[in-house]
Order: sequence, then structure tokens, then C-alpha cells
Amino acid sequence: MAEDVAQDFQPRNIIVTGGCGFIGSNFVRWVAANHPEVHVTVLDKLTYAGNPENIAGLPPEQVELVVGDICDADLLDRLVPGHDAIVHYAAESHNDNSILDPEPFVRTNVVGTVRYHHVSTDEVYGDLALDEPRRFRPDDPYKPSSPYSSTKASSDLLVRAWARTYGVRATISNCSNNYGPYQHVEKFIPRQITNIICGIRPKLYGTGENVRDWIHTEDHSRAVWDILTRGRIGETYLIGADGERSNIDVLRAILERMGQPADAFDWVRDRPGHDRRYAIDPTKLREELGWRPVHTDFGEGLDQTIAWYREHEDWWRPAKEATEAKYAKQGQ
Ligand code: NAD
Ligand code: DAU
Repeated sequence: MAEDVAQDFQPRNIIVTGGCGFIGSNFVRWVAANHPEVHVTVLDKLTYAGNPENIAGLPPEQVELVVGDICDADLLDRLVPGHDAIVHYAAESHNDNSILDPEPFVRTNVVGTVRYHHVSTDEVYGDLALDEPRRFRPDDPYKPSSPYSSTKASSDLLVRAWARTYGVRATISNCSNNYGPYQHVEKFIPRQITNIICGIRPKLYGTGENVRDWIHTEDHSRAVWDILTRGRIGETYLIGADGERSNIDVLRAILERMGQPADAFDWVRDRPGHDRRYAIDPTKLREELGWRPVHTDFGEGLDQTIAWYREHEDWWRPAKEATEAKYAKQGQ
């Protein structure tokens, strides 16, 4: 299925689905700043996780927002012609929500799959033991554990089938945990930062030993661009920045940086089926495409992220109360 040589593709008019979410909007802002010759149509349903403010202020002649559902086939039939690439970020993205109600995950993450560059997650590979030397590699078997990750795995498999059967010129990337500005307050790092700002004690699931492999979202955006423009058709690339850290270490780093005592947090009920560890081996991306992360100092990235949430209360306040009320109901 894969072509031997990397493509050298210069997109001019792209659709970015989910471009009002955390990572999709970072990609849109990155393209606007680095490729003014590329026109971007953002297709976003504006669910609770989508916010048009995330792409506000970009040149209207370059970035256009279409509010709509990726599952709306008629809309896609009208929208896609004339575009030369689709970068597909739209998804229901939060594990805890998928455990409470998997239905929207199946609808958006499986049924709505379109084509071209498919943005996926390392969670499709399941989890690793804490002490295992191995990291995820592109050819590892799929073993997703949550409703969220199994819907993402399903969509990856549909993309692979469409590429092989119908010749869709598709690439897939599976990235590790992103952090940075504009991430919804339901997610681990922004939840704890905004809890501290609000005078609420941060919440740590289970034993706090679970490990995530953190990458700054700007490094993810650059990797997606490199794969879209130079990746080999039919290939899967893993995106990671050697950022493995336990949750308790991340929380302690946030507490310290925000002037809180090291024990100023609550242990709360664990996530059912909680994956222990994710870790990416990014060799293929580095060797084939020469990609390197720029944000290699996690402490510096955290400081920048904390500063952003301190300066953008108007962005996250409207979602905070409802998010915490939902967690409180779950004992988390
Ligand atoms: P997010 O929840 O912040 O944003 C998702 C966006 O998709 C929102 O703007 C939402 O309105 C939109 N959307 C949802 N359903 C839609 C539909 N049916 N039609 C059109 N738009 C719809 O998610 P995120 O964290 O930015 O993740 C983006 C993508 O990256 C997802 O595919 C996710 O699986 C993947 N990913 C996320 C991470 C991470 O750490 N957050 C890591 C690896 C991969
Ligand atoms: O690995 C990539 C994935 O990373 C993406 O595919 C998902 O879209 C993204 O949400 C993220 O999934 P996680 O489940 O790892 O992220 P989350 O921020 O929800 O949680 C990170 C870790 O922190 C996880 O081990 C659970 C824990 N946690 C989370 C919250 C919200 C806590 O201990 N306390 C919390 O309050």
C-alpha cells in the first residue's frame, strides 16, 4: 500500500475538521502564521469542546469557518470539491466522557471519518507496563481499552481500508498527550491549573503513577504539516517528544510553579480501566522526515501554559463550573 518515495505535496486549499478545538486550532493558527499561501476552511460542529475564539483574529481571506457536522454527507459533498487536502482532527476526545456516554464517540469518531490526513492517538495501542523498556511503534497491534480509544482505532482501520480499497491518498498520525494553551479545562493539566486559580484542590486519579508522554501542541502541529506535505501515502507515523512523566510528577511540578505546597491536592476515584502508561518511539518520523520537537523543556512549557491560563480567564471560566460539577457527580 505504501509508496516508496515521500510525496512533495504543496497544498493550497485545505479543510481542517475540528479546527475550533484544542489541537486543530493550533494547527490552523500555525498554518496561518507559516503558510500564508494556504487557504484554510475550518469545518467544526462547535460542540462543548469547540470555540470559535480559538481561531479569532486570523485573516478572514485566509481562514473561513463553516459550522457543520462531519457526519453530514450532503454538506461534505458540497464542501470538499475544490479543496486539495483534508486534515481530520474532529472527534470526541475525552476518555472520562466516553465512559459515561459512548454514543457521540461512535457517531463522530467512526461514522464521520472522511479522508486524507487522519489525526489519531497513541491510545489505539493500549497501554504499557510502568517498567517495560518498550515504547509504541507503528506496526504494534491495536489494543485500545476505553470507548474513546476504541472508536479512534476503528476510524484508523477505516482509513487504512479506504486507502487500500479505493486508493484514497491517506496518511495517519498517532500522537501522545498534548499540552499547551487553549486545552479544555476537562483535561488533566488545565484542570489542575484552573483549580488552583479558583482555590479548588487539584484532583489526582488512583495512585498517580500512570505515565503519559507529553508533547507541546505546536510540535504536534509541525509534525502533522510535515506528514501532510512529505509523508509517504498509506503510512502511519507516530508523533512523540520523549516526554514520559507520571501524573503525580506533573501535578507536583504544577503545584510548585504555582506556589502551592507539594501535598495540596486530593486523591480521587480512579478512572475505570485506566491505562497505565503511554510511550512513543518517534524514530520513523525523525529519520524519514527530519522532524524534531522544539519545546523540549517541559518546565518552560508548563510555565508558558500556566501563564496563558492566568491571562485568559475569560476563555475558560464559562466552562469551568459545569466541568467540575460533572466530575463531582463521578466522585472525581
Ligand atoms: P477537542 O475535544 O479539543 O476538539 C475537538 C473539536 O472537534 C471541537 O472543536 C469540536 O467542536 C469538533 N467536533 C466534534 N465532533 C464534531 C463533528 N461531529 N463534526 C464537526 N466537528 C466536530 O479535541 P483535541 O484534544 O483538540 O483533539 C483533536 C484530535 O487529536 C482528535 O482526533 C483526538 O483524538 C486527537 N488527539 C488528541 C490528543 C490530545 O492529547 N488531546 C493526542 C493525540 C491525538
Ligand atoms: O494519549 C493521547 C490522548 O491524551 C488523547 O488521545 C486524548 O484525546 C487526550 O484526552 C489524552 O487522554 P488522557 O486520558 O491521557 O488525558 P487526560 O488529560 O484526561 O488525563 C491525563 C492523565 O491524568 C490520565 O492518566 C488521567 C489523569 N487525570 C486526569 C484528570 C482529568 C487525573 O489524575 N486527574 C484529573 O483530574
